[in-house]
Amino acid sequence: MSLISCQNNNNPKIINLKSPAKTNTIFFDLTENGLPQYWVKHNDKLIIDKSNLGFDFKNKNVFTEPFSIKNTVENTVDEEWEMPWGEQRLVKNHYNQLKVEIENSSKQKLNLYFRAYDDGIAFRYEIPQQDGLKSLIIKDENTEFQLTGNHTAWWIPGDWDIYEHLYSTSKLSEINAKSYANDDNLAQTHIPENAVNTPVTMRMEDGTHLSFHEANLTDYAGMTLKVDTTTYKLTSELVGSDRTNYKVYRNLPIQTPWRTIQIADEAKDLIDSRLIVNLNEPNKLGDVNWFTPQKYVGIWWEMHVGKATWDYGMTMNKNGQWVDTGQAHGKHGATTENTKRYIDFVAKNNIKGVLIEGWNTGWERWIGFQDREGVFDFVTPYPDYDIQELSDYAKSKGVELIMHHETSARPRTYEKQLDKAFQLMNDMGMHTVKTGYVGKIIPKGEYHHGQWMVNHYRKVVETATKYKVAINAHEPIKATGIRRTYPNAVSREGLRGQEFNAWASDGGNPPEHLPIVAFTRMLAGPIDFTPGIFDIKLPTKPDNQINTTLAQQLALYVVIYSPIQMVADLPENYKNQPAFQFIRDVGVDWEQSITLNGEVGDYVTIARQERETGNWFVGGITDENAREITINFDFLEDGKTYKATFYQDAESAHYKNNPTAISIKSAEINKGMTKTIQLKEGGGFAISLIQKGISD
Ligand code: NOJ
Ligand code: CA
Repeated sequence: MSLISCQNNNNPKIINLKSPAKTNTIFFDLTENGLPQYWVKHNDKLIIDKSNLGFDFKNKNVFTEPFSIKNTVENTVDEEWEMPWGEQRLVKNHYNQLKVEIENSSKQKLNLYFRAYDDGIAFRYEIPQQDGLKSLIIKDENTEFQLTGNHTAWWIPGDWDIYEHLYSTSKLSEINAKSYANDDNLAQTHIPENAVNTPVTMRMEDGTHLSFHEANLTDYAGMTLKVDTTTYKLTSELVGSDRTNYKVYRNLPIQTPWRTIQIADEAKDLIDSRLIVNLNEPNKLGDVNWFTPQKYVGIWWEMHVGKATWDYGMTMNKNGQWVDTGQAHGKHGATTENTKRYIDFVAKNNIKGVLIEGWNTGWERWIGFQDREGVFDFVTPYPDYDIQELSDYAKSKGVELIMHHETSARPRTYEKQLDKAFQLMNDMGMHTVKTGYVGKIIPKGEYHHGQWMVNHYRKVVETATKYKVAINAHEPIKATGIRRTYPNAVSREGLRGQEFNAWASDGGNPPEHLPIVAFTRMLAGPIDFTPGIFDIKLPTKPDNQINTTLAQQLALYVVIYSPIQMVADLPENYKNQPAFQFIRDVGVDWEQSITLNGEVGDYVTIARQERETGNWFVGGITDENAREITINFDFLEDGKTYKATFYQDAESAHYKNNPTAISIKSAEINKGMTKTIQLKEGGGFAISLIQKGISD
């Protein structure tokens, strides 16, 4: 590392910090006006030009005078840590860090931490404990990222409430986030002009790829990035609150989340970067072996395709109590009998979990009501759902039930009941809960991605640790790698998931959606996408279908990472389906993962090796274009023979009119062999590579 440190110098030489292999360099300086400023090079190429760092505070006379550098401290970390579950077991964390301590003439102190990794860079602000400053009110953070050209960007709008948007592909100069305001699939949400959410991924003219995000979002507002479409400058814009009219309130000391840039010569390397988790604190929970990575089914899709309902058909009396008037409409999905059917199915098919949505009272008023009073108490089952009997039944079959807590965006109501709700889970032997936050946040004026809700989501994760409960949040705050610190934060939604294919008025996710997601949203962390729909044409939904082939649905178990993977279709739709064997076989917890190839928005292929068994699984997906992909099996272990099964698009397959045409073939595969596979429009392939034992 070359570092010129300078003490008490108003006119310092430029400081620079290089990554371990010298791939990335961060430069730091103070502007003529005494403002901190940085820029970044990837090898010799400027990635980020001179960009200022700073805040607007509500407090008077805070950090208004020019800074000078007081001190710099450098260190190197080179370590390996173990993921209790994840895309890979051992993670290398190797970086050089620079701390710059700056101060103004009023002796107000601000520290900046920079980290240079070979797969990207990161920095954060620290406002240390100091005399005369107890707390700070941040009106906005003004972190700049001055880009060096009109890059191609894959972006969703900087919505303060929801990430469930389709990605746009455009030049920076053409970003127009406002055009999203009329998306009729979403409740009215707050979308500032020309701000995008993170992770946002870009390709520079020479093919270098960048992805901007944040790591360790703790007690702070989520960050969106405002795009200047003429100067190509991004500026942080924090999510706010109409109740408080500021973005962040904090007592000192304050550490902001890390601002991150993943940098890769090829798109595929973004996916194998572990920058975001590396920037988080180590595991605080120790052994979490009470959580089992698993495949799960759910009383879920039947509601989304309109075959069943969440609600049972209760009425609320004058005192606000739910009463069973005997008027149940007979379409309620979460019945004891139906749940047993799912448990039996799971027990036979190498699946572990059963999620039950619509088991508790309140669904008659969960959506479309302003006050949503009296909704959801998280402990009272509907009359046709026998929670104790089902818990005993599941246990007798070695199956885990997964709890569901839809809060309908009333976090206070949920917080009051958290302990009671998790205690019930303990009593029933349940270890995973899917949470949900559909609707505008109550209290009015708060947004899903503001500081107040960031703290709510964290409180749920932290409280859950006391009860050995793992969280899979829908309508969540974005993933920022806190799963490293809290490995009970297992998965989340935070994108347009499979459910949109069942009911979106635009016909669902287009085939390019997931080949974009793999290089954007997936860089943040695990995704509960809910793959595995076999009945692709959705007969109960004439205007909707899944816009992929069946082979692609299989591929998603490998491509889209989550330690809990839904087997989302109705059990009856897997009957007599040879392709279902792949879902039975596929792993969910990985020793290692390798992205073999890919281009953002076009295609991607990932190979993952299962922990414990050493078997490999490969998944590849394409957008609306057919293409040919050659796999080189040099990742396999030397001297071993694998029984491979290839599940791929049949010659006649096409996502639109012939999505279920699949070809299944077996072969013996060894390290070093290659295979060329045809992917049809909206298609994909999945390969299981099972090690041959001595007995075969
Ligand atoms: C939206 C979630 O994404 C979906 O999975 C769930 O079924 C509904 N909310 C109801 O909670
Ligand atoms: Ca959702």
